[in-house]
Amino acid sequence: MQIKEVTGKEIGATVEGFDYATASAEDIEAIKTAVYTKKIVVLKNQHLEPQQFLKLGQAFGRPETYYEPMYKHPEVEEIFVSSNVPKDGKQIGVPKTGKFWHADYQFMPDPFGLTFIYPQVIPEKNRGTYFIDMGKAYEQLPDDLKKEVAGTFSEHSVRKYFKIRPTDVYRPLSEIIDEVDTKTPPVLKPSTFVHPMTGETILYNSEGFTVGMQDEHGRPLENDLLDRLFEATGQLDDDFEHPNIHLQTFEKGDLLVWDNRSLIHRARHTTTPEPVVSFRLTVHDARKLYDEAV
Ligand SMILES: [Fe+2]
Repeated sequence: MQIKEVTGKEIGATVEGFDYATASAEDIEAIKTAVYTKKIVVLKNQHLEPQQFLKLGQAFGRPETYYEPMYKHPEVEEIFVSSNVPKDGKQIGVPKTGKFWHADYQFMPDPFGLTFIYPQVIPEKNRGTYFIDMGKAYEQLPDDLKKEVAGTFSEHSVRKYFKIRPTDVYRPLSEIIDEVDTKTPPVLKPSTFVHPMTGETILYNSEGFTVGMQDEHGRPLENDLLDRLFEATGQLDDDFEHPNIHLQTFEKGDLLVWDNRSLIHRARHTTTPEPVVSFRLTVHDARKLYDEAV
């Protein structure tokens, strides 16, 4: 196995010759270290059945099964399927997922540290996913904005992007909203936390899931602060030209592993509809999102 890191401060590393079935504990640790420090690692030449993909994920930690059943792979429930390609005339998984800035499970009480994406059908034209490193983005904030954020809390909710399920047809919208608020109530987290593996300060918010901010006494802050943070970090740039935005492309056989603590991501918008299928696994590593204060 060989890990090649992009030089300097840039995002990215590639791994050649990785086989989950024969990898040693040291190999797994070396890949994890590359994920935490280089943020995205591409495992090259992976040709895996869904069950094998799950085993690969298990080598890195404890997989989390997505809470909404409509996303599940029919044979391996831990796999989340994003697809617009019907299989045997049936919709598998959910189309058009993640076309907004977010960290995975940011709206849940206990988000996982690692996301694995294994593209199955790769579009010709609009290939790739956009990323922003929120550690680097925090570092680059003007000092006065850093001061404003210090000690505040951010509220995250799935409300804005919860996808209506086939079983919701003919249900009143208010009933669905009540169900979302009961099943996944908004969660409050510090607006910044220290990455437990790297010591970096991470600005933890996203345009998709962060719905408000509070001061240390629980008083709501003007939404203007959140908007200014979205603007400064590049999340409002719909042309994706902001220097914080990284476009990660991939080819058949690539399996992407990324740091779900540092990175927010957004599916690439398509100008023309193309077939696209990808499998996702999400894995808890040795630590929580951040170490709770004791
Ligand atoms: Fe995502």
